[in-house]
Amino acid sequence: MDQFLHEMEEIRKTAVNDLAAGKYGRLPFGGENPTEASKRPEVIFFLQLGVYPEWREVHFLSRQIQRLDDADMVYRIGEQIFDEAKHTKVLRDQLMLWGADPDRFWQQPIPQWAAAFDYMDKLTHPAEYFGCSNFIGEGLFLASVMNPMKTHDPETFNVYVEHILPDEPRHIKIGRDIIIKYCTTHEMQERVRRSAIILAKQYCQGYDAATKFAIRAMQGDDPGQIRDGEVILPTV
Ligand SMILES: [Fe+2]
Ligand SMILES: [Fe+2]
Repeated sequence: MDQFLHEMEEIRKTAVNDLAAGKYGRLPFGGENPTEASKRPEVIFFLQLGVYPEWREVHFLSRQIQRLDDADMVYRIGEQIFDEAKHTKVLRDQLMLWGADPDRFWQQPIPQWAAAFDYMDKLTHPAEYFGCSNFIGEGLFLASVMNPMKTHDPETFNVYVEHILPDEPRHIKIGRDIIIKYCTTHEMQERVRRSAIILAKQYCQGYDAATKFAIRAMQGDDPGQIRDGEVILPTV
């Protein structure tokens, strides 16, 4: 088990290192004047983008909880459902306070940002789902988004730093404990490893899109218009 957990940590660590090295761009954290957060379009965009994962998590977890028969785990996931609903609410409340549309990228998301969640929607076994969403996904979000917010722009991203970040280690631990409980056979390890690799890749692609859209928002473009623009295929 130690060996498999280590492999899962390596999948996450490789992505964390690539993101930290700027391979998928850099989020525009660390603005000149943090008290002007409500006037920074890239900050508004980033919070609007943030509503999406929190709200979808509430839906996913509500379904996944039915697949578990361990009362202690059901309690912990019940707590997580509350946390993710609270995260959705605090982000939406902050956006409404700033006079911004809280549901703009919830109703019509950035496709690359939504892709990882569409993938996770198909995961049927709890080990696959929690291995991906909690252990890899939330682990990556903490390392590549929330910790940098705390370090570089804590005042601007106060809603994340104060109300969301403190809950995340608990969610990542749920992922770790479910991996330990279920990934005891070669077959299950193979299945979870495969999903984790896909999810880590999609997370990085979502982050890449988020950085690009945020930078364009900062330059005065409307991210919604860019999303709706012509499809330009990447060059290979
Ligand atoms: Fe959350
Ligand atoms: Fe979470």
